[in-house]
Amino acid sequence: MTDGPSTLSTFAELGLPTPLVSALERRGITAPFPIQVACIPDAIAGRDVLGRGQTGSGKTLAFGLPLLAGIAGVQAAPTRPRALILVPTRELAMQVQDALGPLGRSLGLHTKIVVGGMSMTKQIQALRRGVDVLVATPGRLTDLIERGECSLADVRITVLDEADHMCDLGFLPAVSKLLDQIPSDGQRLLFSATLDGDVDKLVRRYLHDPVTHSIAPAAAPVETMDHHLFIVDRADKQNVIAEVAGREGRTIMFVRTKHGVDALAKKLARVGVRAGALHGGKTQSARTRTLAEFREGKVGVLIATDVAARGIHVDDVSLVVHVDPAADHKDYLHRAGRTARAGERGTVATLVAHNEVRNTERMMRRAGVRALRSKVAAGDEALVRITGAQPPSGIPVPPDPEPRPQRRGPRPGGRRDRRPGGRFEGRGQDGRLDGEYRAGRSADHRDGRPGEHREGRPEHRQRREPGATPGGARPGGRGGAARHGGGRAGAGRYEDRRPRPEAAR
Ligand SMILES: Nc1ncnc2c1ncn2[C@@H]1O[C@H](COP(=O)(O)OP(=O)(O)OP(=O)(O)O)[C@@H](O)[C@H]1O
Ligand SMILES: [Mg+2]
Repeated sequence: MTDGPSTLSTFAELGLPTPLVSALERRGITAPFPIQVACIPDAIAGRDVLGRGQTGSGKTLAFGLPLLAGIAGVQAAPTRPRALILVPTRELAMQVQDALGPLGRSLGLHTKIVVGGMSMTKQIQALRRGVDVLVATPGRLTDLIERGECSLADVRITVLDEADHMCDLGFLPAVSKLLDQIPSDGQRLLFSATLDGDVDKLVRRYLHDPVTHSIAPAAAPVETMDHHLFIVDRADKQNVIAEVAGREGRTIMFVRTKHGVDALAKKLARVGVRAGALHGGKTQSARTRTLAEFREGKVGVLIATDVAARGIHVDDVSLVVHVDPAADHKDYLHRAGRTARAGERGTVATLVAHNEVRNTERMMRRAGVRALRSKVAAGDEALVRITGAQPPSGIPVPPDPEPRPQRRGPRPGGRRDRRPGGRFEGRGQDGRLDGEYRAGRSADHRDGRPGEHREGRPEHRQRREPGATPGGARPGGRGGAARHGGGRAGAGRYEDRRPRPEAAR
C-alpha cells in the first residue's frame, strides 16, 4: 500500500520477457511498483484486470508491460492493430506512447498514436504499414474506422486508461461501440486512480471474470502529499497567486475555464512570471509545445484546465495549486495527483474565499484528504514556508503568440481534405472536426462546467470566429487579465508596477 518501489519481486520474476526487462533497466526502471507486482502476473496469464492505484503509482507500466509481452511475436497486418489503449486526452495518448513505444521496440513492436488535432494522413499511412499497439482517443479512432482505415478485428488486448473519466465525459457510447468491434474473447484491462460511475457498465458488459487489484482504499490519500487550504481575501487573491507563481520549482495551477487560464497567464506575464497556458481551446501544436516547455523546464509554471488533470506526468512538480476549487472529489484527487508521484513528495494548495471554505472542505473529506487550513495574504510567512512563494520580478514577460494553424498546401474542394486514395472527405485534418467532439465531450472540451462555461463552444466554431485570437480575446480589445478574478484591473500591487508601453506590446 505504498507508492514507492517494492523489492518484492523483479520484473523478470513477474514473467516479463528478457528484452523488455533489459529495456526497462536501460530507462532506470529496475524494481516494480506494488500495482505492477499485483497486476502484471494476472495480466500475463490472460486474465481481465480491473486496476485501481493512486495517482503516480505506475499504472501505465502495470497495463503496458503485460500488453507488450502479450502480443509480442506476431506482426500486425496492415490497418489491423493487435492491441488498443484508449485514453481520454491527446496529451495522455502522447505520454503513453512515449512510455511504451521504446519498450515495445525492444520486442519488435510498433506503437502509434491516433488522436485528433494531428495529421490524419500520417496516422492512416502508419496504420497501412502496420501498427501493433494503437494508443487512441475514441473520436479519432472512430473516424478512422468509419473511413475503412482501421479494423479492430485482430485486437487481442484492450486497455481503457482513466476508464471512469471516459465514461464521465460521455464517451461511454463511443467506447462501447469500439469495444463491440473487438473479438469478445480478447483480454481487457481497465485502469484508473478512481474507478466508479459508469465503469460498472463497461465491466459487466465487456470484462470476463475480472480480477480486481486495488492497492489502496478508494479514498486513501497519497502519503507523500501535503494538502493545504488557503483562505484568501478576494481582493488579495491575484497577489497571492503571483507570489506563489514566483516560487522556484515546477508548479501546476488549475483553473476552471479556458478563459480563466488565458487571463491568468497574461496577468502573470505582466508581473514577470512566464507561465504556459494549456486548455482545449488551443491548437494541438500549441498544447504540445506548452507541455514540452514545462517538461523541459523552460517555463516553471503551467496553468491548465482539467484537461491536464488526468494521467499527465511531469517529473518534479512540487506544487499543485487549485486556483479555482475542483468540481468534485475525484477531480481534486486527479489534479492533486500531478505532484507527489512515484514516491516523491509534493504539496497541494487550494485557494478559497471565506464563503467557499465549507463546501471545499466537504469535497476534500470525500477525497479522503485532511488539509491544513490557514488564512493567508501576500507576503505571509506561512505562504512562503509552505509554497516557497516569492514576489515576482515585476518586469513584464513578452507574450508568446500562438502561431496560426499551418495549412499544408491548398485544399482542393475548399475546406475538404483529400485522403490517401483520392476520395474527398468532409473533415479537416487539422483537428477542427476530428471526431473528438462528435464522439462525446472530450476532456478537451470539458474545460469548465455547464453554466459556468463562457468559452465552451466546440473548437471548430471558436476558431472560425472572425477577428478572434486563439485565446479568445479580440485584437485591440482589453486583455482577459483585465476581466479576471472579479477584482479591479490594476488594483493589485503587482499590476501597479507594470510599465505600460511593454504591457501594450
Ligand atoms: N517500477 C518503477 N520504477 C521507477 N519508476 C516507475 C516505475 N513504474 C512507474 N514509474 C514512473 O512513475 C511515474 C508515474 O507513473 P504513471 O504515469 O504510470 O502513474 P499512474 O499510476 O498512471 O498515475 P495517474 O493516476 O496520474 O495516471 C512515471 O514517471 C513512471 O515512469
Ligand atoms: Mg496513468
